[in-house]
Amino acid sequence: MKINENYANLEQSYLFSTIAKKVNEYTAQNPDKKVIKLGIGDVTLPLCKAVTEALHKAVDEMGVQATFRGYGPEQGYDFLRKAVQEYYTKRNVELELDEIFISDGAKSDLGNILDLFSKDNTVLVPDPVYPVYVDTNVMAGRKVVYVDANGENEFLPLPDKNVQADIIYICSPNNPTGAAYNKEQLQTWVDYAKSMNAIILFDAAYECFVSDENLPRSIFEIEGAKDCAIEFCSLSKTAGFTGTRCGYTVVPKALGVLNKMWVRRQTTKFNGVPYIVQRGAEAVFSEEGQKEIIENINYYKENAKVISDTLKSCGIWHVGGKHSPYIWLKCPNDMDSWTFFDYLLENAQVVGTPGAGFGKNGDGYFRLTSFGSKENTAEAMKRFKKLFG
Ligand code: MLT
Repeated sequence: MKINENYANLEQSYLFSTIAKKVNEYTAQNPDKKVIKLGIGDVTLPLCKAVTEALHKAVDEMGVQATFRGYGPEQGYDFLRKAVQEYYTKRNVELELDEIFISDGAKSDLGNILDLFSKDNTVLVPDPVYPVYVDTNVMAGRKVVYVDANGENEFLPLPDKNVQADIIYICSPNNPTGAAYNKEQLQTWVDYAKSMNAIILFDAAYECFVSDENLPRSIFEIEGAKDCAIEFCSLSKTAGFTGTRCGYTVVPKALGVLNKMWVRRQTTKFNGVPYIVQRGAEAVFSEEGQKEIIENINYYKENAKVISDTLKSCGIWHVGGKHSPYIWLKCPNDMDSWTFFDYLLENAQVVGTPGAGFGKNGDGYFRLTSFGSKENTAEAMKRFKKLFG
């Protein structure tokens, strides 16, 4: 037996596991202190009514012989694929049903898709970046190169024609910075990818937070993208499915063999998302569901505004929050990210995510999420103001 030596090249533990461990240690030592978690982007509002009703109905169906279902199609039931298809049509993106694959979330598919690509590809990721893009490639032993996202380019880097890349990751609205590309900027990436014969892996997990109608919510709103991009989306942040697990991946047929390879991969290694969950997901796209999830998204956007207003009043530089649940701030007093993490935990019992955990350009920065409750967000900001106001 030989182990995969590439694992030795990973950080010792996954970013959010490291944070959880630190917080658990702190709470064990300080049981009387109320810790407010604005770290991992996990939602707090419950599933909306349209979804829970659909889930209940599906549970009942599963308990009756006539409507019971066993294995479903690995790519997802047509009723959900159709709902996703219509969702795209509303934004003038036409997809065929067999270009849509129902998944258990964006994170798994962002990693799983790599089965389709040779180890010899060079991967281009922005820095800072969602750690999954880097770690999954490091596990496979692929070469990773970086494009710098920083204050100068407003955390929206554009491609450098002199850098050769085969697989390109883009997340917009971005995790962790909250920055969102406009159509022209995404067009630059699509043109670059085509000139390199590269593929873009587009993470659209935060698309529902885009507030400006003119900003793209899908890479397929960009001309030529179907020839060079795969899109990943999730209902985790859109509809509170972090614990329910459902998402979708779009692999255009224009990508040639990749669509068929993905079918082959999924039919071999994946048995599909549970029927019950897919019925709940279908309800997200219903008229009632859309109305209810928008209310929830607006609730989080209000939180983002409270965070942003507080930081402004403390004179702390920050971006994000407008088209995203994340606020990306410069650590006060030139602290590095992890020092600030400890400082904030010790002195305000507020947990955030150190920017350094997302890459070298993230050092000196910090991420807060607006996914907390309204009360906790207000309380956290009161504590923030006391420390830095
Ligand atoms: C995050 O906090 O970056 C996300 O919640 C992680 C994820 O979606 O897997």
